[in-house]
Amino acid sequence: MDHFTYRHGQLHAEDVAIADIAGAVGTPVYIYSRATLERHYQVFSRAFTGLDPLICYAVKANANIAVIHTLASLGAGADVVSGGELRSALAAGVPGDRIVFSGIGKTEDEMAMALQAGVCQVNVESVPELEALSDVASRLGRVASTAIRVNPDVDANTHAKITTGRRENKFGIEWTAAHAVCAAAAALPGIELCGIACHIGSQLTGLEPFRQAFLRLRDLVLMLRADGHHIRTLDLGGGLGIPYGDEVEPVPHPDAYAGIVRETVGRLGCRLILEPGRLLVGNAGVLVTRVLYVKEGATRTFVIVDAAMNDLIRPALYGAFHAIVPATEPAGDAEPRLVDVVGPICESGDTFARDRPLPPVGAGDLLVFRTAGAYAAVMASTYNARPLVAETMVNGARFAVVRDRGTIDDLLVRQHVPTWT
Ligand code: LLP
Repeated sequence: MDHFTYRHGQLHAEDVAIADIAGAVGTPVYIYSRATLERHYQVFSRAFTGLDPLICYAVKANANIAVIHTLASLGAGADVVSGGELRSALAAGVPGDRIVFSGIGKTEDEMAMALQAGVCQVNVESVPELEALSDVASRLGRVASTAIRVNPDVDANTHAKITTGRRENKFGIEWTAAHAVCAAAAALPGIELCGIACHIGSQLTGLEPFRQAFLRLRDLVLMLRADGHHIRTLDLGGGLGIPYGDEVEPVPHPDAYAGIVRETVGRLGCRLILEPGRLLVGNAGVLVTRVLYVKEGATRTFVIVDAAMNDLIRPALYGAFHAIVPATEPAGDAEPRLVDVVGPICESGDTFARDRPLPPVGAGDLLVFRTAGAYAAVMASTYNARPLVAETMVNGARFAVVRDRGTIDDLLVRQHVPTWT
């Protein structure tokens, strides 16, 4: 459930008409709903009542500090994968000891930042990375609490670009080798082996892959304990899918996911760490765009909008579906037409939807891409020299700009023509 609903014929974010935000801030613009963030966090955390997990919001899904701050104020920690995400989480008020540092290619500078910030755990994905972390920690006179991310070789049945738990994926240490790697880790002076981690992919719409992966983790924890390792944390990653509106089967509820967690790893006595991203923020955001032109092509009708693939790349990159609705509620008898919704960028990939049934729209109308809170603004770029899109957040009847729209000056100020040209 989210807080984007029609009231008196106008789509509202909580108590604010979307058209009012578009009028004040311009388009394209992202709008996040604080109440929806809160609801999603509560539903997720309540599902785990009794297990007392550390819920580390995966900042990569939406790194806006207002979003991170909202979740942190509800009790979330953070899962970060770069120095930038670490700084964002700290700036948003997440205490260092509630931050997990993940990622396959951390630099030594990032490792040092993480250790200095006192993160609760660094998740390591290779032997060379383990050695580098040990060196950095020793140089700083510290010992790094370290989890080994294993690759359980499980098919997550999701989009190929976001599956991470197969042997052929670049992530984690093959689970059959984890035993030897943990022995090596325990021997390194800068490492304290504290746990095991895994993340098998994103937008999973079935629970079976989770069950298989978590069972492998359970076996591994038991084996490592038998070897004398003190395994006290188990990081299960993120990945639970959300409805975008094009699913054939309903996506599992967090309660069902929590049931799998309880059943598989709930009795190991480990502190569980969960890293949900999309589930917390996906349906809490929309992208609002204005129709520039409706063009009758030779064979199709193009609705050309002022948002483009640089603002929301998921349709172009993954063929992802985002529901598109008009900001003004269509009349009940409005006959939908099949149209292509496209942006202004100079490539055909800049297409948000093909053959999408939409009520009649004209220049100046506002359209709303739903489920655009996750992996949307964070993946924006300045392609075609388009400034970064603005972001706003609504709380009841109020709204605020939480990221200013970029300017063309922002683009130019960091570029230089060498004198020798
Ligand atoms: N933990 C780790 C280690 C991850 O790599 C990810 C996501 C998460 C947690 C959070 O997963 P979530 O709960 O959000 O599924 N850009 C793609 C998604 C990439 C996901 C990358 N890793 C998209 O737009 O679908």
